[in-house]
Amino acid sequence: MPSVPTPTPRVAAFERLSYGLFLHFGLYSQLGRGEWVQHAEKIATEDYLPSLMATFTAEDFDARAWAKLARRAGMRYITLTTRHHEGFSLYDTRGLSRWDVTHTPCGRDLIAEFVDGCRAEGIRPHFYHTTLDWNEPRFKSDFPAYLAYLRESVEVLCRHYGEVGGFWFDGNWSKKDADWEEDALYAVIRKHQPNAIIVNNTGIEEPGRLGNPEIDAVTFERGRPEPMDRTGHPRYVAAEMCHTLNYHWGTAARDLNYLSPAHVIEELCACRRAGANFLLNVGPLAQGGIPEYEGALLRKVGDWLEVHGGEAFFEAKPCGVQGEGSDFGLRLGEEILLFVHDLTATAATYASGGPRCQGPGPRRFTGVPGGYREARWLDSGEALAVRREGEAVVVEATGYPYGTNTVVRLAKLTR
Ligand code: GLC
Repeated sequence: MPSVPTPTPRVAAFERLSYGLFLHFGLYSQLGRGEWVQHAEKIATEDYLPSLMATFTAEDFDARAWAKLARRAGMRYITLTTRHHEGFSLYDTRGLSRWDVTHTPCGRDLIAEFVDGCRAEGIRPHFYHTTLDWNEPRFKSDFPAYLAYLRESVEVLCRHYGEVGGFWFDGNWSKKDADWEEDALYAVIRKHQPNAIIVNNTGIEEPGRLGNPEIDAVTFERGRPEPMDRTGHPRYVAAEMCHTLNYHWGTAARDLNYLSPAHVIEELCACRRAGANFLLNVGPLAQGGIPEYEGALLRKVGDWLEVHGGEAFFEAKPCGVQGEGSDFGLRLGEEILLFVHDLTATAATYASGGPRCQGPGPRRFTGVPGGYREARWLDSGEALAVRREGEAVVVEATGYPYGTNTVVRLAKLTR
């Protein structure tokens, strides 16, 4: 029988983090038209980097405030863009590149501030780093030399900022057939930061693809993660879904197409169902401040988490308990946490494609071991009737009391 591998301590620690804040901040933030603006508007290097460097002051950059917000939102880690595709670094590259923060009027090493701010709030700092570069000539003209530069850049991040939670690479999808010398890049990390997890985004087109054997977590960019079947795999690999609150990762003033707190709560639950981490993105404003709506949304979702078990919520693990539609169950010690969706007839705004159950009434769950007879809502303690019907456990879900609607409601099922 092929067995399921167990996670290394490094991967297990990453899975425990469960919910993180993704932050895209760079020169592009000043334009407010998304992080791909240079590429989209075909702006030449000389019309882009020098002028945006000259105005980069990051006056409101306050990493401690970011970390406080993340903590208030129930998140446990932050992944920040140390360098994005434009090639500008928020850290002191120690002479590797003139396109770094030390050459701007800001002058501060923002990554040093970032790790300090995170640590002060008990948040784990993770580093996003692009692998492609629109403005570095060697990327096109001398790829091996470019890759050496990339490794040296990553080594700087490994050596000068204390213990890093993980590295999140992005861009290998830009040259699908190239030799990215991944082993050499990851060896740099393993040498200096043995506890850091390594992720390399496989992009929208290849969610969940397993890559190099050093990779610790697969990615699901803006897609629902699937529960992973790890039977027979040589190593246990975690999963992480990243999503952004509108349609850009860097701030985009005219993108009003925002997710709602309700949608984010549903996504967070869908990630738990698959045992995947959820990395939720916000694009800070030109000066580094968190935009109002995004801050408010994160706090609303934090309120939901508070009501639904806070830290304990993330300890619950997939256990094969399935409901109908979006409903499912997770194991939390001896208890089973049932996730009940669409409790009011009006809440089903997000067509998920599957059959959906509506309003209060019986909810059927399969895969529940014998002996589970009692259920209570986690938020109110109200007892719910439970009966066995063949293979299924049926819980009579009562509706929300007037004045309440928490999108997804959790019940504790006990023996
Ligand atoms: C895409 C984009 C990039 C963004 C990333 C986040 O790969 O190229 O702008 O940083 O997704 O997942």
